[in-house]
Amino acid sequence: MTRAPEPGSAARRARVFFALWPEPAIARRLHKEGERAHAATGGRRMRRDTLHLTLAFIGDIARERLDDLLACADKVDFSPFALALDRMADWRHNHIVWAGASVLPPELESLVSQLNAALAEADFPVERRKFAAHVTLLRNARGELPAADIDPPIDWPVRTFVLVESDLRQDGAHYAVLKSWPATPATGR
Ligand code: 2AM
Repeated sequence: MTRAPEPGSAARRARVFFALWPEPAIARRLHKEGERAHAATGGRRMRRDTLHLTLAFIGDIARERLDDLLACADKVDFSPFALALDRMADWRHNHIVWAGASVLPPELESLVSQLNAALAEADFPVERRKFAAHVTLLRNARGELPAADIDPPIDWPVRTFVLVESDLRQDGAHYAVLKSWPATPATGR
């Protein structure tokens, strides 16, 4: 995790996305799974503190529009939920190895669709492809993946989502969390 660029710096544009960001204990387990896969497939492991699940990728925007983006997220109402990361898979087209969930919680689907609706309404670019929940563990992976199950599954209690700025550098992406939004606590009866 790095700091956002200083105010007044030359960066007038920002590359941003909304994401779920795991607590260190969850990130550690994900990173371990990456190590297991890496032994078989090679490639580049994502740093532990950069592991995340993208909800909506916006891309490069003018910094002046950041407030509009915050307003989009303010509209979202979501309940806390548990995400069970129980499988690893690879995408051959981009040589990514990723961790994912065989069951998508409805709260996660709702979170993504609310974000996309607010983004579209505010004229931000919206992903047209179907949402593919994944945490990228390795890039440039080439070999055969070992057993696909994550056993036991990594139980990720999701309580917040975040807006992240990405700074692409030679040694990989550096991320700064710009703001975090909490779930609405479930009301007890
Ligand atoms: P990836 O890990 O599958 O590459 C920051 O780059 C995050 O946004 C990453 O999780 C990345 O997914 C995702 N991302 C990057 N470019 C994207 C795009 N054009 N569309 C959707 N997601 C993208």
